[in-house]
Amino acid sequence: MRVDMIDEMYPAVETPALIVDWSRVRANVSRMASLARQRNITLRPHIKTHKLVALAQLQVDEGAVGITVAKLGEAEVMADHGLTDILVAYPIVGGTKISRLLDLAQRVRISVAVDSIEAGAALSRAATERAIRLPTLVEIDTGLRRCGVLPGEPAVGLARALSELAGLNLVGILTHEGHAYTAGVPGGLRTATLNAAEAMAATAEQFESAGLPVEIVSMGSSGTAFAGMGQPHVTEFRPGTYVYNDRTQVALGAAHNDDCAATVLVTVVGRTSAAEVLIDAGSKLLTSDRMIVAHPPPTYGEVVGHPDWQVVRQSEEHGILDGPGINELAIGDRLSIIPNHICPVVNLVDRVVVVDGAECNAMWVDARGKSQ
Ligand SMILES: Cc1ncc(COP(=O)(O)O)c(C=O)c1O
Repeated sequence: MRVDMIDEMYPAVETPALIVDWSRVRANVSRMASLARQRNITLRPHIKTHKLVALAQLQVDEGAVGITVAKLGEAEVMADHGLTDILVAYPIVGGTKISRLLDLAQRVRISVAVDSIEAGAALSRAATERAIRLPTLVEIDTGLRRCGVLPGEPAVGLARALSELAGLNLVGILTHEGHAYTAGVPGGLRTATLNAAEAMAATAEQFESAGLPVEIVSMGSSGTAFAGMGQPHVTEFRPGTYVYNDRTQVALGAAHNDDCAATVLVTVVGRTSAAEVLIDAGSKLLTSDRMIVAHPPPTYGEVVGHPDWQVVRQSEEHGILDGPGINELAIGDRLSIIPNHICPVVNLVDRVVVVDGAECNAMWVDARGKSQ
C-alpha cells in the first residue's frame, strides 16, 4: 500500500500504525500453501507472527493441517475461536502450565514438543490422571543451540524413554533450523537447511530401526522453506514470518520488498540538529531487533520506495531517518517503514489497520501480549 493512497483513502489513520495489506497477505499465504502442495508436504504455520484468528483461519482454509504456537496463551485464544489442531512448540514446564495444556487437550487436538525426560515425565503423570495420551514430538537441535536434544543417539535415547510413559503418545520429531538465517557465506542458508534436513532424516531412520514411531518429521521457518520443503523424510513445515515478511526475509532472498505485507505508517515530526529526519516511531514499535542475518547493519527499518532511507538511530518513541536526499521530506509527511523483524512489532500493537482494496478496518490483534 502506497502512503499517498493511505493518506487519500484513510486520512483518519493516526500514526504510528501497523498497516496490513490483506491482498499481499493472501498472496503470501497462497504462495506458501502451493509450494507445500507441490512438494507434497503438510503445512503447520507458526502464528506468533500475526496472532490473528482471521489469519490463522485463512492459513487453514488454504490447506494448513493446523497451527503452531509458542505460548499457551496463544493456543487458548486460537482454540476459543475455532482452531482445532494446535502444536505447542515450546517446553511446557510447571504445574499450572501442564494443567492449562491438558485443559486445552480436552477441547481440541493438542500436540507438544518435549526435549527433556523431566518435562516429559511430569506431562505424562498429569496426562495419565486425566486419561489423556498427549501426541508428543521429540525436539531436535540441528544447530540453533536453543531447544532440543542432539540428532541421532541422544534423540533416540530420549524417545525410547518417552515412549515408555503412559501419558505420552510419541508421534515424531521436530526442529527449528533458525541458525540457517545467520549462516552468512554465499549459499549458507541453503547448506544449513539441507544439513538440518539430513540430520532429521538420519534421526528418523534411526527411530525406524529402533521401532520408535516417527510419523511426523517437522522442520520449519520461512527463510528455509524453499530449500527444506521436499527433502527426504520431512513431512511437515512450520513457517511463520512469510505471511507478512520483513527486511530479514528480503535480505535472505526469501521475499521481495513488494511481498512485505505489514509496514509501519509514520509521520515526520521534526529534524535533528544534524539535519536528519525525526519520525514518530522508535523502539517501542519498530523494536531494537536487527535483521536476523550474518552481519546485520545497525539500522532498524527502511522507507518503502526509498531503501536507502533508513532508521539509523532510535529511542523509545523517536526514530531518526537518514539517507541521500532525506531533506526532501517535510514535517508532516507520512511514510511507510519496513521493519527488520515483523513478529515482535506485531506484539507491540493492540490493533492493526487492515487494508483490503478500498476497505480499511482496524482489527484487534487477538493473541497480542500472550506471553505466558
Ligand atoms: C519452533 C519454531 N517453529 C517455527 C518458527 C517459524 O519461523 P519463521 O518465523 O522464521 O518463519 C519459529 C520461529 O521462531 C519457531 O521458533
